[in-house]
Amino acid sequence: MENKAYRGHVLTLPYPSLGHINPLLQFSKRLVSKGLKATLATTLFIHNTMQPPSSSSLQFDTISDGYDEGGFAQAESIHAYLNRMETIGSKTLADLIIKNKNTANPIDCIIYDPFLPWALEVAKKFGIFGAAFFTQTCAVNFIYHHVHHGLLKLPITSTPISIPGLPVLELEDMPSFISVPGSYPAYFEMLLNQFSNSDKADAVLVNTFYELEPEAVDSMSKVCQLLAIGPTIPSFYLDKRLENDNDYGFNLFASDSSICNNWLNTKLEGSVIYLSFGSMASLSNKQMEELALALKGSKFHFLWVVKASEEAKLPEKFVEEAGNKGLVVQWCSQLEVLSNKAIGCFLTHCGWNSTLEALSLGVPMVGLPQWTDQTMNAKYVQDVWKVGVRAKVCENGIVEREEIDFCIKEVMEGERRKDFQKNAKKWRDLAIKAIREGGSSNKNIDEFVSKFINS
Ligand code: UDX
Repeated sequence: MENKAYRGHVLTLPYPSLGHINPLLQFSKRLVSKGLKATLATTLFIHNTMQPPSSSSLQFDTISDGYDEGGFAQAESIHAYLNRMETIGSKTLADLIIKNKNTANPIDCIIYDPFLPWALEVAKKFGIFGAAFFTQTCAVNFIYHHVHHGLLKLPITSTPISIPGLPVLELEDMPSFISVPGSYPAYFEMLLNQFSNSDKADAVLVNTFYELEPEAVDSMSKVCQLLAIGPTIPSFYLDKRLENDNDYGFNLFASDSSICNNWLNTKLEGSVIYLSFGSMASLSNKQMEELALALKGSKFHFLWVVKASEEAKLPEKFVEEAGNKGLVVQWCSQLEVLSNKAIGCFLTHCGWNSTLEALSLGVPMVGLPQWTDQTMNAKYVQDVWKVGVRAKVCENGIVEREEIDFCIKEVMEGERRKDFQKNAKKWRDLAIKAIREGGSSNKNIDEFVSKFINS
C-alpha cells in the first residue's frame, strides 16, 4: 500500500512514437516535481521494444493498440492502425482506469496526445479531468486549427499565406500535408482531428514556451485557452544547478554515450557538425550520397547518426575513409551531444524535439526538413529565430552537395556566424528562464496543476 500523499494522480497518454512519448514523459516528471503522482501509459508493443529510462520518478503502464506483437509495422495501413488503436485503445485505457480505481491513488486526470482524441471521451466517461497535450509548435497547430475550421481553404491557390500571429508563409513553409496535397491522407486527417473535440478538453497544453512564439500563442489563445509549458527537456541539460534530472526517456536504440563523448572531447570548441534525422525519417539513397559527399569534401569534423536501417545507403568505404574526421553512430544521446562544446552546428530534419533541444541548448542549425511540421520549423529557424539557415531543395526533391556545403559554411564560419551564435544563446537563456521558478512555463504548469486540483 502506498502511503505517500500525492496531490493527484495523472495518467499521461502519448501517441506511440518516440517524438511524442518523450516530451510527455518529461512533462510528467515536471508534474511529479509539483507533488503529483504520474503514470505514463504506452502501448504494450512500445513498452516491450523501446529502452525505458533506467531511473525515473514515474510509473509506467500499458494500453493496447491492437498490435501487441509488431506495433505500427504490423498494420496494413495507417488508417487501419489508427482505427484499431481507437477501438482497442479506448477499451484498454478504460480498463487501466478501472484497475486503479480502488487503489490509494485512483487516476483523476488524463493528459492525452490529441492525435488520440478518443482518450478525452474515455476521460469524460469516467468524469476525469482531461487535458490535451500538443507536441508540435503553436504555429503549426494554429495552421491545422485554421484548416479544421475552414478558415484556410485547401488546396492553397494563392500565396503568400497570411495567418494571424504567424510570419507571412509561402507554400513550401507549410506542413507537408498541406503543401503536397494528397500526401499521407490518414495522417493529415489525424492532425486535423486534433481539433475535433479539443474545445471540450479541460485544459490545452502546448510543448513550446511563450517567448519562442508569443504572437502565435497570443493568436491561438483567442480561440482556445492554451498553456505553453515547454521546453520538455530534462532540467539538468538546461541548468546544471537544477535537480539531477538527466533522464532522456525512452530510447529507440541502445547507445554508448562514452563513444561520442570521448571522440568529441578531442575536438576544438565549435569545430564539429552534428547530423541527425530523428527517429522516423528515411532518406533517399541520392540524398544520403549528397550528404556524404558534402561531408567528405568539407574541412569540418562531423558526427552523423545513421540508423541501422539507413547504413546501406552510405557510399562504399565512407566510414573507413572518414578516419578521425568523422564519427558515424547508429544512435546517440542527442542531448549530451548537443551539450558538448565541440558542436558548432546541428544539421537537422527539424523535427520539433530536435529543434527545441537545439534552441534550448544554444546550438545553431542547418535545416533539411523532410515532411510534416519540419518545413515550418525550418522556416522559423531561419527567419524567425534566426539561428541558422534552411537548405534549398532542387526540383528533384534533393538538397545537393554544393548547397549542403554552402549552408554548413554559412553556419560554421560565415559572416552571420556570430549572429546565429548570439541568437542561439538568447533562446537558450530564455528557455532556462521559462522553466525556472517564476518563468512563463513554470507559472503555466502551476496554473494547470491548480486548475486540475481544484476541478
Ligand atoms: C516526430 C516527427 O518527425 C517530428 O517532425 C515531430 O515534430 C515530432 O515527432 P522525430 O522525427 O523522431 O519526431 O524527430 P524529433 O521530434 O526531432 O525527435 C527525435 C528525438 O530523438 C529527439 O528528442 C532526439 O533527442 C532523439 N534522438 C535522435 C536521440 O536521442 N538520439 C539520436 O541519435 C537521434
